[in-house]
Amino acid sequence: MQPEILKRYAGAVPRYTSYPTAPHFSERTGVAEYRSWLAGLPVDARLSLYLHVPYCDELCWYCGCNTKATQKYEPVGKYVEHLIKEIDLVCEAVGGKRAADHVHFGGGSPSILGAEDIHRVGERLRRLVDVSDDAEFAVEVDPRAIDEERTAAFAAIGVNRLSVGVQDFAAQVQLAINRIQSYEKTRSVIEDFRKHGVESVNIDLVYGLPFQTQDSVGQTIEQVLQLQPDRVALFGYAHLPERLTHQRLLPSEHLPGPEERFAQANHAADALVNAGYVRVGLDHFASPDDRLAKGDVRRNFQGYTTDDAGVLIGMGASAIGRMPQGYVQNAVSTAEYQRRVAAGKLATQRGHAMSQDDEIRSLVIERLMCGLHFPERELVQRFGDAASGVVEQARDLLRSETDGLICADPDGDGFRVTEKGRLFVRTLASVFDAYLNTAEVRHSAGV
Ligand SMILES: C[S@@+](CC[C@H](N)C(=O)[O-])C[C@H]1O[C@@H](n2cnc3c(N)ncnc32)[C@H](O)[C@@H]1O
Ligand code: SF4
Repeated sequence: MQPEILKRYAGAVPRYTSYPTAPHFSERTGVAEYRSWLAGLPVDARLSLYLHVPYCDELCWYCGCNTKATQKYEPVGKYVEHLIKEIDLVCEAVGGKRAADHVHFGGGSPSILGAEDIHRVGERLRRLVDVSDDAEFAVEVDPRAIDEERTAAFAAIGVNRLSVGVQDFAAQVQLAINRIQSYEKTRSVIEDFRKHGVESVNIDLVYGLPFQTQDSVGQTIEQVLQLQPDRVALFGYAHLPERLTHQRLLPSEHLPGPEERFAQANHAADALVNAGYVRVGLDHFASPDDRLAKGDVRRNFQGYTTDDAGVLIGMGASAIGRMPQGYVQNAVSTAEYQRRVAAGKLATQRGHAMSQDDEIRSLVIERLMCGLHFPERELVQRFGDAASGVVEQARDLLRSETDGLICADPDGDGFRVTEKGRLFVRTLASVFDAYLNTAEVRHSAGV
């Protein structure tokens, strides 16, 4: 890849886990809207649930998640009380039990919860939803700090997919990012979950960290392959030290530059593809018999998913929900979140009601991010003339010089992102983002 192309397309852009992206939500959409949206959910609505646990034992210095470190359990225990209360409040607002096809505990590190609290949250959830037999029930685990009792508790409440953070196994990298995690410990945690019947495993990796090289990334992938994960997520390190002050602790002089980042991403992707994994969207890899490799891929706040529920209920501080009418986000700080819930209110602080133009662009961006395709026919079928502006924009893009990153669809249905363009798909998607640069928001590097 020529450096000029990297310069042209690897600028800072959103990750597009939603459109519009969260910085464009506003307080114009809040509790009142959410309450009426929840009340209007049909009895046969199929839900997806996300529960956020914003605590970890210690902070990794690269971390971009909404979390904080705690040495004591007391704030976690208090938080769980509020989470349980929020489940009750949402339950009341929905006005009856609904079915759920997806449940995801994310963070932070939900594995910080004590076994008793895991059981309590799991039981309370089942008051809100009937979790279907073939539901995907996932939990994000920090393998450095989970024991057998917690593992058993997650399995007992129905968890069937484990997601573990690894990032990199190289000692020098681990030291620089303040995350010492042995291969043996990681393997034993995965084995424990498998022993308890939790068969599906996702492993998170990051490239672009201090001291990483193509070789170190390649070695980590070799070790990861021995663990036989069903999915691998390979994220480009998002370095935003102006906003995330703990990232300033990283030795930034040892961060790889754009060309090296690009080479690491490709090297890792090639190793995974050569090992038989199917490449999904920008940064996920799935074994060929995994749903993500076979199914209809969607994008939401957890990244790539098979979740097509259309209704995502987010619970916990900062959690984002997606309703047919738009997005809602809970108060981000745990203090404000807990204050709202303790007062018996839904914790919604901001949101966004979707206009038709938002729906059109959201569909375009999701299809590009997931299937690397601009779906002209689907747009015209679903939105008629209202889609003509966006279709014209796509044709203009195809006529312009895009260095081979896109090509016309062979069946005449819009355009496709080429393999060369895959790592730049966020930049290509940003062409259709009507909110880009309309607020003071910092994004991470495009590759
Ligand atoms: C909530 S953590 C996963 C669970 C658990 N807390 C752990 O770290 O093991 C989510 C994942 O996001 C990724 N991540 C966190 N900060 C990131 C950043 N600044 N840039 C890119 N990826 C990041 C890491 O791969 C991490 O495993
Ligand atoms: S990467 Fe995971 S364990 Fe590390 S601080 Fe972030 S959420 Fe916590």
